[in-house]
Amino acid sequence: MTTAPPQVPFNATLRDGRAVHIRMIEAGDNERLIAFGAALPENDWLHAENDLRSPEVVARLVNARDAEHWRQIVAVAPDGAIVAYASARQLPGRSSHVADIQLIVDKAWRRCGLGSVMAGEIVAHARKLGVDKVFVDMVEEQTAGQAIFTRLGFKLEGRLINHIRDRQGKPHNLVVLAHHVE
Ligand SMILES: CC(C)(COP(=O)(O)OP(=O)(O)OC[C@H]1O[C@@H](n2cnc3c(N)ncnc32)[C@H](O)[C@@H]1OP(=O)(O)O)[C@@H](O)C(=O)NCCC(=O)NCCS
Repeated sequence: MTTAPPQVPFNATLRDGRAVHIRMIEAGDNERLIAFGAALPENDWLHAENDLRSPEVVARLVNARDAEHWRQIVAVAPDGAIVAYASARQLPGRSSHVADIQLIVDKAWRRCGLGSVMAGEIVAHARKLGVDKVFVDMVEEQTAGQAIFTRLGFKLEGRLINHIRDRQGKPHNLVVLAHHVE
């Protein structure tokens, strides 16, 4: 498990030589986030809790940029487009010692290490929220996401059978990976 502190803002060079700037979400990111959401493959909405195609959802996320219990980061390409989004959010009430993580990368920017860079950074932010446990859930078919978080020290903690249905109505298992902070 990474123990590095949060680094944002920083520049990263990906395995294919492309560069991104990684920073906290900012006021004025709305249109860039909506464009990012609109370009994601339809299947990705199986994995996402927040529908970034929706201006209302995006406005809620951007408005929460200074919320104490929420950290959100984006990767920005040289042309200014957002190409990845990640968040860590402390849960309310009886699970306030737990944070959940979301991570999503533009299809054209995958397999270059960006998901791993974003995951390491957002987990560092999650730890700074002061929680005892960090978890991420995803459909079982999402092997890339599982590979990323397993490398960061997360362990499989649960499998919910047929917990998610896609747009065609086909059921999918949901896996939960978690890390308990020492
Ligand atoms: C999961 C996701 C974030 C990965 O982003 P990425 O930028 O491609 O990730 P990386 O390039 O850092 O890949 C990390 C590792 O995942 C594995 N991986 C990546 N893509 C894979 C694929 N298509 N098939 C199998 N393994 C894959 C590899 O082990 C890879 O490491 P390696 O390239 O060193 O072998 C991206 O696919 C995505 O946004 N998916 C939809 C949303 C989602 O499922 N989020 C995860 C749960 S919150």
